[in-house]
Amino acid sequence: PTVAAIIPAAGSGSRMKLDHPKQYHQLAGTPILIHTIRAFYHHPAIGRTVVVVPAEWLEKTREMLAEHGLSGDTLTVVAGGQRRQDSVMAGLRVLDHDTEVVLVHDGARPLVSADLITRSAKAVHKHGAAIAAVPVKDTLKRGDKTCRITATIDRNNLWQAQTPQGAKLSLLFSAFETAGEMDVTDEAMLLEHAGIPVMLVEGEETNLKITRPEDLPLAESIMQQKTA
Ligand code: CTP
Ligand code: MG
Repeated sequence: PTVAAIIPAAGSGSRMKLDHPKQYHQLAGTPILIHTIRAFYHHPAIGRTVVVVPAEWLEKTREMLAEHGLSGDTLTVVAGGQRRQDSVMAGLRVLDHDTEVVLVHDGARPLVSADLITRSAKAVHKHGAAIAAVPVKDTLKRGDKTCRITATIDRNNLWQAQTPQGAKLSLLFSAFETAGEMDVTDEAMLLEHAGIPVMLVEGEETNLKITRPEDLPLAESIMQQKTA
C-alpha cells in the first residue's frame, strides 16, 4: 500500500460533555468513528488505515470494528497519547516502510467525502504536502481582554484548516523530528515549522468536526441530506 490513512481518535472529547469520548457517540445509529473509518477503509486510493484510540478503548474498538464488518490486514488499531501529535506519531510508527503518502484525518470528522479524500491524496502526490481547508466567510475581529474590538482582520487569503492533512511519509517524519516538543494543533504546523511548503486543497463546509453538543444534530441533518 502506498497511501495510508491515520485516524487520530484518542482524545477525550471534553467540549462535548458526554460521559464517553465523542468519537464513540452514535450518529444516525452508528458510532461517529465507524463512519469516519468507513470513508477511508472503502476508498480505492487508501491501502492501509490506522486508527488511534485511547488505550482503555482498544479492545472495545476492535470489537466494534468486527461488528461493523471492518477487518483485515489493511486496518490496524493502536493506542494514542496525551497530545494529538503523540497520537499521530503512534500511528506513523506502525506504517510499513513502503508507505509513500500519509493522510491524517480526525476521527471526529465523519462526513468527509470520497471526493475530498481523492483530491487530498492527489495534491500530496503532486506537491508533497497538502491540507483541506475552506475560505473564511465571516468578518474576523480581534478583541482585547474586555471584549473591545481592537482590529478587523482582512479575511482575504484566510482559510479554515480541516482534515485530511497529508504529506509524503518522509516529509512528515522529518517534520516531527524538527518539531521536538513544540505544541501544535495540526500536522500542517509541523510541516510549516520545518520549512516544508504545504498546499491548500478546497475542503467542504459539510466536513465539520464534531466538537460541541450542537454539532450532533447538525451532522445528522447533513448526513440525511447526503443519503437522500
Ligand atoms: N485526538 C487524539 N489524541 C489526542 C487528542 C485528540 O487522537 N491526545 C484526536 C481526537 O480524538 C479527534 C481529533 O484528534 O478525533 C481532533 O481533536 P479534537 O476535536 O480536539 O478532539 P478532543 O481532543 O477529543 O476534544 P476536546 O478538545 O474537546 O477535548
Ligand atoms: Mg482537543
